[in-house]
Amino acid sequence: MAEDLEIAKGTKEEQYQALIPQIEGLLTGETDLVANMANVSAALKEQFGWLWVGFYLVKENELVLGPFQGPVACTRIKKGRGVCGTSWAEAKTLIVPDVEKFPGHIACSSMSRSEIVVPVFKNHEVVAVLDVDSEALGLFDETDQRYLEQIARLVNF
Ligand code: SME
Repeated sequence: MAEDLEIAKGTKEEQYQALIPQIEGLLTGETDLVANMANVSAALKEQFGWLWVGFYLVKENELVLGPFQGPVACTRIKKGRGVCGTSWAEAKTLIVPDVEKFPGHIACSSMSRSEIVVPVFKNHEVVAVLDVDSEALGLFDETDQRYLEQIARLVNF
């Protein structure tokens, strides 16, 4: 079966709206978590061309690097550390318009300028975070938050 992604043009909102049914299609009938996180990362990277997009998974009270697209990244992040560890500790989405102004930001890539991190919940507990980095300042806003939170909920953890 062909798995080509149809890249949408238009506003950010239109791009997410075209992408989400395709992500649902990729996830339908597949129960393997790694496969699904991998395809969600790839679909987001392909549509938006962000610097880095991927998952960190909560394992033994640390975040451990999961499937991602982009440059190599740090493998373990402690709770409360960096944007990812803070999103996990506070169980909420964090939008960071300028990573240099976020105290404790973990610079996996020196090219990263702005970031959004969305927690993923299972039984009201954070089990993972979805992290997106951009080379542009101030790239992420409430539209990204809304749609990335929706996409994170599509993955069956
Ligand atoms: N910048 C993140 C670390 C993960 S990388 O960006 C992929 C942070 O501060 O948590």
